[in-house]
Amino acid sequence: MEQYVIKGGTPLVGEVEIGGAKNAALGILAASIMTDETVLISNMPDVRDTNIMLQAMENIGVLIKRIDRHTVEINASRIHSQVIEGDYVKRIRASYYLLGALLGKYKQGTVVFPGGCAIGARPIDQHIKGFKALGADVDIAHGMVNAKASALKAAHIYMDVVTVGATINVMMASVMAEGQTIIENAAKEPHVVDVANFLNSMGANIKGAGTDVIRIKGVERLHRSEYMIIPDQIEAGTFMFAAAVTKGDITVKNVIPKHLESISAKLIEIGCEVQESDDEVRVVASKRLSHTQVKTLPYPGFPTDMQPQITVALALGQGISIVTESIFENRFKYVDELTRMGANVKVEGNTAIIDGVQKYTGAEITAPDLRAGAALVLAGLSAEGYTLIDDVKYIERGYEDFPEKLQNLGAKIARVDSERDVQKFKLRVG
Ligand code: UD1
Repeated sequence: MEQYVIKGGTPLVGEVEIGGAKNAALGILAASIMTDETVLISNMPDVRDTNIMLQAMENIGVLIKRIDRHTVEINASRIHSQVIEGDYVKRIRASYYLLGALLGKYKQGTVVFPGGCAIGARPIDQHIKGFKALGADVDIAHGMVNAKASALKAAHIYMDVVTVGATINVMMASVMAEGQTIIENAAKEPHVVDVANFLNSMGANIKGAGTDVIRIKGVERLHRSEYMIIPDQIEAGTFMFAAAVTKGDITVKNVIPKHLESISAKLIEIGCEVQESDDEVRVVASKRLSHTQVKTLPYPGFPTDMQPQITVALALGQGISIVTESIFENRFKYVDELTRMGANVKVEGNTAIIDGVQKYTGAEITAPDLRAGAALVLAGLSAEGYTLIDDVKYIERGYEDFPEKLQNLGAKIARVDSERDVQKFKLRVG
């Protein structure tokens, strides 16, 4: 029983240090196996997804040395298998990055068909299209994806949808291909740029990451590197919304404010004060939130990974708000849980119509996936009374020390394993 128990109603106040970006880390870890020389990666978040990725790498012979909690040294010169399998890897969607990395380095790879959060059908057709364009044969059999090429040759690839995963994967597969690969309609997310910068630090020749056309000139080999992962845009955004929903005052530190602009803009629209400086953003919420409309879009649009958090805030705002989810078709599952807490939200297709209520009331709820789980924690923090959240293992896939960081801001929250722990918490917080 992995649960969080929360007593809501306390405004969160103080400073919080944001960790390295999980989604960048997953791409960077996979890319690190593309050289036989040693790579040192810092600002690595210590979360379940990155740890599963490291375990998958270790299982094929990659040497991993943990220098400290957030720094790993990686040496992939002794890889003995290009097959990534096992139930534990299926749980992370980003395991497919190992396919691009193995294909790019060894011209072959086999990876268990990826799982990840249940937020909608998550096809990998664009990854496969890219690998095939580079000259690989790709087939899916017995739950495994196999890619193999006698030689990888540069190609001109137009992505039919803007996809972070396929952009990163095809970028990795093409860094040592012969000639210049062009990816059009590429994703522009900060973590796409971070993986490209990391590959370039290993000697790759990638230009245009962060725009919708990425050009990759194949190089012979990649070499050693030392690299620091960018701060996590979504962890930062989650704490910014924690200030909004608890009427608090939080300074999120160690961030890149540019990556948070779409989030800051919405917070300002709904009545929060947002102050930006070099590497921190302060959010102050002193009055009831108001309403707005928001549609999730690829970067620099409002991130789909912040959709549950903004919905939780708008459901407390005055007036009618509309949230449209345009990236994943099944990302409103948490709304049923929010309704148990008193929210008034109606979902029709990919749109949520929200009639803001004055307050939530604590309830027993379940985290359906990573970001929705975090958003429900925010709801619990603002609610009257106690909230018990089940299945927090989803939240721990992507948030390091979430309860502890919230406690430092004054939140009454604890991770509990038994009914006895819940009772002890209640006695303690009163
Ligand atoms: C990544 C993030 C995830 C985030 C998402 C969108 C990681 C590990 N996960 O997921 O947190 O929510 O970006 O910012 O970085 N699609 C296809 N065919 C494909 C690939 C994707 O049709 O081959 C579609 C998807 O169904 C979705 C859209 O493209 O509708 C975007 O998906 P994508 O950007 O690839 O998401 P992920 O990389 O899986």
